[in-house]
Amino acid sequence: MPKILILADLHHDFWQEAGKDPLANADFSGVDLLLIAGDLSNKAHVRWKYALASIGQHINLSKVCIFPGNHDYYDGRLDREDKLEAIAQGMGARFVQQHEIILGRTRLLCCTLWTDMMLGGNRGRNGAEAMERMNDFRCIRVEREHYRKLRPHHTTDVHARHLG
Ligand SMILES: [Fe+2]
Repeated sequence: MPKILILADLHHDFWQEAGKDPLANADFSGVDLLLIAGDLSNKAHVRWKYALASIGQHINLSKVCIFPGNHDYYDGRLDREDKLEAIAQGMGARFVQQHEIILGRTRLLCCTLWTDMMLGGNRGRNGAEAMERMNDFRCIRVEREHYRKLRPHHTTDVHARHLG
């Protein structure tokens, strides 16, 4: 049976800042696939290459699949995933946003997903509260809209697309 390791919220950049390798004691022997399922780092368009290079010291990056989490978009653009894809591919990893991975009898559906903002049934109120309280709406921009700040409707649109 294939061995799949899923890591999420690694925030490798914080570890690097502290001079530590979060995977120093991890055992990758026999791992067929490492899925990095969101939030490898803030500012992914700058930092993914360093984080992936570090991970590549433990496992061949051809076995690594990655898609972004919300923090990966920080200081970047929601609609410039092509940059993240290019970095992943350039490092020899697979960018799997909205991809299906089938390994043996296991099927992994990969996407950021975001949220529908429908908790409690009031999208408008939830969106307004999210705008006030969540850094996502200060730290991510939308390039096609003249680099305006991310708004809740952008992420609910992506949510609908990722569900589809
Ligand atoms: Fe996170």
